[in-house]
Amino acid sequence: MKESTFSLLKRTFVQARPYWAYIAGIFICNFLASPIALLKPLALKILIDNGFGSRPLPGFITYFFPVNYEFSFTSIVWISVALVLLIALIDNIYTVIIWILNTYTGEKLVRNFKYLLFNQVQRLSLAFHDRNGTADSVYRIQYDTSAIRTLIIGNLSPILTSCITLVGMIVIMFTINSRFALITCSIIPPMIFLTRISTKKLKKDWKKVKEYESNAMSVVQEVLTSLRVVKAFGQEEGESNRFMAKADIAMKGQLKVAWIGALFYFCIGMIYAAGTALFIYFGASYVRSGEMTLGELTMVIAYLGQIYGPLDKISRNLNEVQSSLTSIERVYTLLDEQREVKETANPVHLARTKGVIEFQNVGFYYNKEVSTLNNISFKVQSGDRIGVMGSTGAGKSTLINLITRFYDPTYGQILVDGINIKNYKLSDYRQQFGIVLQEPVLFSTTIAENIAYGLPNASTEEIIAAAKMANAHDFITKCSDGYNTLVGERGMNLSGGERQRISIARAFIKNAPILILDEPTSSLDVKTEAQIMEAMERLMQGRTTFLITHRLDTLNSCSIILHLEKGSLEEIIINNNSDTLAKKKTSFLSGNIIR
Ligand SMILES: Nc1ncnc2c1ncn2[C@@H]1O[C@H](COP(=O)(O)OP(=O)(O)O)[C@@H](O)[C@H]1O
Ligand SMILES: [Mg+2]
Repeated sequence: MKESTFSLLKRTFVQARPYWAYIAGIFICNFLASPIALLKPLALKILIDNGFGSRPLPGFITYFFPVNYEFSFTSIVWISVALVLLIALIDNIYTVIIWILNTYTGEKLVRNFKYLLFNQVQRLSLAFHDRNGTADSVYRIQYDTSAIRTLIIGNLSPILTSCITLVGMIVIMFTINSRFALITCSIIPPMIFLTRISTKKLKKDWKKVKEYESNAMSVVQEVLTSLRVVKAFGQEEGESNRFMAKADIAMKGQLKVAWIGALFYFCIGMIYAAGTALFIYFGASYVRSGEMTLGELTMVIAYLGQIYGPLDKISRNLNEVQSSLTSIERVYTLLDEQREVKETANPVHLARTKGVIEFQNVGFYYNKEVSTLNNISFKVQSGDRIGVMGSTGAGKSTLINLITRFYDPTYGQILVDGINIKNYKLSDYRQQFGIVLQEPVLFSTTIAENIAYGLPNASTEEIIAAAKMANAHDFITKCSDGYNTLVGERGMNLSGGERQRISIARAFIKNAPILILDEPTSSLDVKTEAQIMEAMERLMQGRTTFLITHRLDTLNSCSIILHLEKGSLEEIIINNNSDTLAKKKTSFLSGNIIR
C-alpha cells in the first residue's frame, strides 16, 4: 500500500478527532508561550525605568492603586518583587498545564491506536502470522503507534503555530517596507523546494530503517522464546552475532537518514545566511542613498530573525514528519490487512452444535505451490470418536486447523450440522471446541485463571471440579499456593504432564461439544501418559472427538479411524468395537462411510 502524505494526514486527523478539544488546547498553549516569555523581563524593566529612573509607571499597574497614590522607591521595589513572583507563578502554572495536557493527549492517542492495532492483529488469520512472523507486528504495536503522538503534538502543533507567527511577521514587514519584505520572502521558494526534495528522499529511507529495526527485533523475540534450545546448542554467541548483523544494518540506515537530515539543515542554514547577506548588501546602499534610515534598517534586520525563526521550525518539523508518517503508514497497512478467515454478512448463530461434521471434497494449500490436503471427504456423527493417524507431515494437524476454522479450505466445504462452517458466527463457532494440543499453552498467571481461560467467570467450585476430572487436583493442592500458584511464563514452572493436565481441565470447564486432541500425550512418559489418558477418556464422553495419535490402543477405542498420508485420505476404517481393527477400505472420494 502506498498512500500520499495528504491522505495519511487526513486519516490521522480522523483518528484523532475524539481528542480535538485537547489538541486545540495544546495549540492555544503553544501560542501563549511567546507572550508569557515576553513578560519575564518586565519586573526588572520597572525597577530600572520607574524605580531608579523617573518614568511614570505603566497603566496596568497604576490601575490597581488609588488615583493620587504617591509611588515611593520602596513601593516600586515591592511592586517589582511581587511581579517577579506573579510572573513566575503564571509561567510555572503554564508549564504544568502544557506538560500534563501534552502527556494526557499524547498517551491517550497512542493507547487507543495500540488497542486498535492489537485488536486487529489478534483477529488476523494464522496464515497472515505464519507469513509475517510476530516480531514485526509487535514492533508496529509497540513502536510505530507512538508516531501519532510525535506527529500531532511534536510536529504539527509547532508547524501550525509557526505558520501563524510567520504570516503575522510577513504582514508587519510589508507594512514597514515592502521591498525589504520581498527580499525576505525570496528565501521561501528555495526552502520549499529543498524541503520537498529531502522529505521525498527521507520517506523512502525511513521506511527501510523501520523494516531493518523490526528485523533486528525479530531475532530478539525468536531467541527469547526458544532460549532453551539456544543454550543447549551453545548458540548464544552466534545469535548475538546474528542480532548484531541486523542491528548494524538498522544503524547504517539511521546514519543515512541522519546524513540526509544534516545536509538539509546545512542547506537551510546557508539559505538564511544568503538572505541576511542580501539584506546587508541592499540595506547598505539604501541607507547610503537616503532611501531608508539607519534605524529602519536595524529594525528590519531585527525582524529578519523573527521571520527566520518560525521558518526554521517549520522546515525542521516537516522533515521530522516523514519519520512519523512512515510509522503511521505501517500501522495503517496492518490495520487494513484483510482478515482471511471472514465472517459472512448475516452469520448464523450457533448455541451448541450436535457435532455432526462433514468434509466435502476439501483441499488445502498453505501456499500456492504445494497442496497439503487433497480431496478429503468424510462424515462423522454426533458423539463419534475419530482417530486420525498418519506419518508426520501427512496433514493431520492441518485437517484439525480446518475444522476449527483457523484456515479456510482452498476448495471444497466443511459442514457442521449440515451448514457450511463459513456461515456461522465466528465467535459462536469457536465456542464449540475444546482443544488439547501436544504442547500445552499456559499463560503467565495463576493455575486457576489458566483453567478458567475459556470461562473467565467460572466459580472456584467449577474450577476445582474441572481439575479433579483432569486428575490435576492432587498436584495442584501440593503446589505452594494451591490454585493461586503462578505458573511462570508459558507455564515453565510446571512439568509437561502437569501443564497437560491443566489444559485438560481447561477443556473440561469449557464443556464444548467437539473435542480436538492433537497428539496430547506424545511428549509424556508412559506413567504420566496413563494418568492423562484416564482423564482424557472422561473428557471424551458424549463429545464428538478428533484424536490424533500414534498409539494403537488409543486408536482402538475410536469408532472411526481416518488414515492420512501425504495429504490424502488413504483409508477410512470403521472400528466395530471388536478387538482387532476391522479394516474396511472405502473410497475417500465417495465420502460415505459404511457402518
Ligand atoms: N503454517 C504452515 N505453513 C506452510 N506449510 C505448513 C504449515 N504448517 C504445516 N505445513 C506443512 O503442511 C504439511 C502438513 O503438516 P501438518 O498438518 O502439521 O502435519 P502432521 O500434523 O500430520 O504432522 C507439512 O508438509 C508441513 O510442512
Ligand atoms: Mg501435527
